[in-house]
Amino acid sequence: MGRIMKATSILSLLAGAVNGLQVDFSSDDSIKQAASTVAYGLLKYYTGNNTGDTPGNLPDPYFWWEAGAMFGTMVDYWLLTGDESYVDVTTQAMVHQTGDDRDFMPTNQTRTLGNDDQGFWAMAAMSAAENNFPNPPADQPQWLALAQAVFNEYVGRWDPATCNGGLRWQIFTFNNGFNYKNSISNGCFFNIAARLTRYTGNQTYADWAEKIWDWMTEVKFIDADFNIYDGAGVEGGCAKISQAQWTYNAGIFLHGAAVMYNVTDSDIWQQRVQGLMNRTVQHFFVDGVAVEQPCEPFNQCDIDQQSFKGYLMRWMTGSAQLAPFTFDTLMPLVQSSAAAAALQCSGSPPANEFRGDPGTACGFKWTEKNKFDGLVGVGQQMSALSAIQYTLVKKAEVAKVPVTASTGGTSAGNVNAGASAETKIYAMPAITTGERVAAGFATTAVLFSVLGGSFFVMKE
Ligand SMILES: *[C@@H]1O[C@H](CO)[C@@H](O)[C@H](O)[C@H]1NC(C)=O
Ligand SMILES: *[C@@H]1O[C@H](CO)[C@@H](O)[C@H](O)[C@H]1NC(C)=O
Ligand SMILES: *[C@@H]1O[C@H](CO)[C@@H](O)[C@H](O)[C@H]1NC(C)=O
Ligand SMILES: *[C@@H]1O[C@H](CO)[C@@H](O)[C@H](O)[C@H]1NC(C)=O
Ligand SMILES: *[C@@H]1O[C@H](CO)[C@@H](O)[C@H](O)[C@H]1NC(C)=O
Repeated sequence: MGRIMKATSILSLLAGAVNGLQVDFSSDDSIKQAASTVAYGLLKYYTGNNTGDTPGNLPDPYFWWEAGAMFGTMVDYWLLTGDESYVDVTTQAMVHQTGDDRDFMPTNQTRTLGNDDQGFWAMAAMSAAENNFPNPPADQPQWLALAQAVFNEYVGRWDPATCNGGLRWQIFTFNNGFNYKNSISNGCFFNIAARLTRYTGNQTYADWAEKIWDWMTEVKFIDADFNIYDGAGVEGGCAKISQAQWTYNAGIFLHGAAVMYNVTDSDIWQQRVQGLMNRTVQHFFVDGVAVEQPCEPFNQCDIDQQSFKGYLMRWMTGSAQLAPFTFDTLMPLVQSSAAAAALQCSGSPPANEFRGDPGTACGFKWTEKNKFDGLVGVGQQMSALSAIQYTLVKKAEVAKVPVTASTGGTSAGNVNAGASAETKIYAMPAITTGERVAAGFATTAVLFSVLGGSFFVMKE
């Protein structure tokens, strides 16, 4: 495997010098053209709309949640570029994966479905509501109601019995990771609660956003310096914290806090946004370019982690829109990261690794600038697309600010959407030995990478 990658990267490096993605960041047309090229390469990984395949699923080795993240990215792509090429495929995927209860918990995904996995699909639906992405037909699930369904289910899973609150990572007791509480699961809850507050004006959502924030700081998953750590096991009362700091945790809380600042106009939320922004800028940027610190410098990022920087770009931009005082700090960093990412989009791997236009496959390490690193895949392609497309957001440009129910939002809601946890648990078929082994393997890999992260943080 290692040898094949190396040969690929050398070949692609040569090809990259000839082709490569050219972007003039002073021209919206040029940015849109580049985004379209990268999006084309991204969607070539998707097979869910082929006859006999399942809409919404990416092929192995990509987990279900990453497809939700990808379609969330495509919802923004549509708004920012105006390109309608992927609207149908995105709607088909999102509607299909809502499952029997219209809550992004399809039975097929039970074995790997954690609160964070469900959350990435729910955030895609929330973005669709906020962007006025075309609504599905009335007899189909609706974007706002889907986000509310997941919010309601999160409320039902809040767990004061351990660590004085918080969501667990996993939903089902039989999945490994049920005894772990993590920042990304609670970040999904926080982010969705904040955005539902802004979209609907309903105070219940704001109360939950406050409560989640308070809990996160109480257990010190967010510390006094606004570092955000991965999470902790419930056995020790969440005291033994895994210290890895991922870009997506910084981004998801920064954005949620910016939304809360926007709706409250309060000093307290402004200070939180300021603190998170400071720490994000200090910790994750090297010469203006985003780096996945726990793994990227050591070439240890797994498939999931290779996609995280894209969400940081998404949420920095969302923050810049809703907390305008952050715009002049955050957007130049999105822009410099985008320029570096575009330089990485110069690879020509073989067709089993990439089927987009030759010379436009995106590598992973943006700090390498025009030395294509040969690490290609959905995460890398999506992250580069994110960085590039979000540079289309301009200061105080009202047309691209997320709408609300009172500023033109058309998505239908349902405050009672979602199902009870009990209904779900008892509906599950018995787990087989083979599946248990597979789940155990996945979790071992995750824990290993988390431990690896702590080690690197300590060394730093
Ligand atoms: C699936 O969607 C992609 C992206 O829109 C498109 O290029 C492709 O033709 C579609 N495939 C089928 C079988 O419809
Ligand atoms: C679940 O899997 C079956 C069999 O592959 C497929 O037909 C169905 O569409 C899947 N459902 C969802 C929601 O993915
Ligand atoms: C953030 O950084 C700025 C500039 O360095 C500083 O003035 C401000 O006090 C910091 N705010 C927080 C909350 O850390
Ligand atoms: C909320 O966001 C809008 C859109 O960018 C902006 O006009 C408004 O000033 C923001 N509110 C605050 C309190 O910054
Ligand atoms: C606000 O949201 C809560 C929680 O979903 C719901 O119970 C309540 O009915 C909502 N209030 C209004 C006025 O929609």
